Amino acid sequence: MRASSGSKFRWPARDASAEDVLRWALDEFGDKVAISTSFQATGMVILDMAACLTGGDVRVFSLDTGRIHQETYDLIVAVRKRYGINVEMLTPDSVELSRMLTMHGPNLFYEATAKRRLCCEIRKVRPLKRKLATLDAWIVGLRKSQSQAREALDAVSLDEEHGGLVKIAPLANWSEERVWDYIRRNDVPYHKLYDQNYPSIGCAPCTRPTKPGEPPRAGRWWWEDEDADKECGIHVSPTGQLRRSFDVLLEEVLPPIR
Ligand code: ADX
Ligand code: SF4
Repeated sequence: MRASSGSKFRWPARDASAEDVLRWALDEFGDKVAISTSFQATGMVILDMAACLTGGDVRVFSLDTGRIHQETYDLIVAVRKRYGINVEMLTPDSVELSRMLTMHGPNLFYEATAKRRLCCEIRKVRPLKRKLATLDAWIVGLRKSQSQAREALDAVSLDEEHGGLVKIAPLANWSEERVWDYIRRNDVPYHKLYDQNYPSIGCAPCTRPTKPGEPPRAGRWWWEDEDADKECGIHVSPTGQLRRSFDVLLEEVLPPIR
């Protein structure tokens, strides 16, 4: 956990439990904090904990890219019924989306990593940035053991990618087993694609089941070789040559400012 000496916030104790971190976040930031979820297992644990702490009076949003699985929508319906939470669905800007689809076609993500990152940018990153600009803190379902790139994750940090707002990952130190143990013990609704060997679930055209022994994120953007770039940009921005190619594509797609 990173303590910031100049921060105006009281930071939770280093050994705080996931529930303690969540309680602290909800107390400290009130209606200026929201849970960001894609309804994967970690997100459902956080939702369940937050619903227990608040009786369902908690802000939750999700990025509806327009390409998510029907099973994800089914789970959103289950969340509404079980917790009484109306999840705020964030959609891409229609002009940006239309320009991207017209220039590059609907399945651009399979053509090059820069085009895949462009699709993630228009469908996820830009809608997320618009939402985060209205908040002081956001709560995410990231865990350290999900990938090498996430090993250094702190439960609470300042999110430099998003202007320094507070980023809270209550389950940062949890193992996958612990997540599933919580779900079973508390009968938490979960995404049905886990029963079909999907260990990580994103958009439908970009996610597939994994084989035994494969790393958990192997089914995400499976046609790309390097683990380093297996991110959509909401947590890690592209760098180097990928960044340069991506910037050119993005500039073409964004409508001219009048
Ligand atoms: S991603 O970068 O590969 O898409 P991943 O699927 O591991 O991320 O999810 C990590 C965390 O990012 C989730 O627990 C959630 O907090 C946030 N997140 C990812 N996708 C979405 C989404 N579609 N809507 C809202 N939050 C999301
Ligand atoms: Fe587009 Fe695939 Fe990224 Fe979804 S995961 S936004 S479909 S590239």
